Amino acid sequence: MVKSTGLKKINSAVFISGTGTNLLNLINYSLSKKSKIKVCLVISDNSKAKGLNFAKKFKIKKKIVRFQNKVVAENDILKVLKQNKISLICLAGFMKILTENFIRKFKGKIVNIHPSLLPKYKGLNTHQRVIKNNEKYSGCTVHFVTAKLDSGKIILQKKVKILKNDTPKSLGKRILKQEHFLYKKALEKIYTNF
Ligand code: GRF
Repeated sequence: MVKSTGLKKINSAVFISGTGTNLLNLINYSLSKKSKIKVCLVISDNSKAKGLNFAKKFKIKKKIVRFQNKVVAENDILKVLKQNKISLICLAGFMKILTENFIRKFKGKIVNIHPSLLPKYKGLNTHQRVIKNNEKYSGCTVHFVTAKLDSGKIILQKKVKILKNDTPKSLGKRILKQEHFLYKKALEKIYTNF
């Protein structure tokens, strides 16, 4: 579990690969008075990730890490996390799978948002798959990260009804909106016990 120490906000890093709407949401949340986290660092495996513009806009340190060699990449990340005294990692659309070794080093301090009602629809293309399977509901999940993909302890979930004419795009858009609420609520939930 992550410990909150009184008034001091928890130094957090957000890992992204793409658009970064969840990153923007977390930055805005972290700037609010009641937030227990402070986004101090943005890590991206993709130098062209749109979300990097939010780091620039809010003057947050960013690091682009090439994942040609995972061990080297993760060592680079661990170094920069240490330099910035990071004690919470929020994965937000980060498309690389972290190794067991990395996760062990940050045990209980990595959270992820996934666009399905886990344990259903782990992995990619969730919206296509739920529509194809005629599901009535989908949604999103915030969970702790373990070495097994999309399988760690669930912190919070939000159900979203699938509409008759939904496409993966329209459903994804509605779910993304809920993701933004859910991520903040999940972080608040993690810290309420402390
Ligand atoms: C979100 O749907 C998230 O759940 C998934 O990737 C998407 C990232 O969106 N893991 P964004 O980059 O935060 O806009």
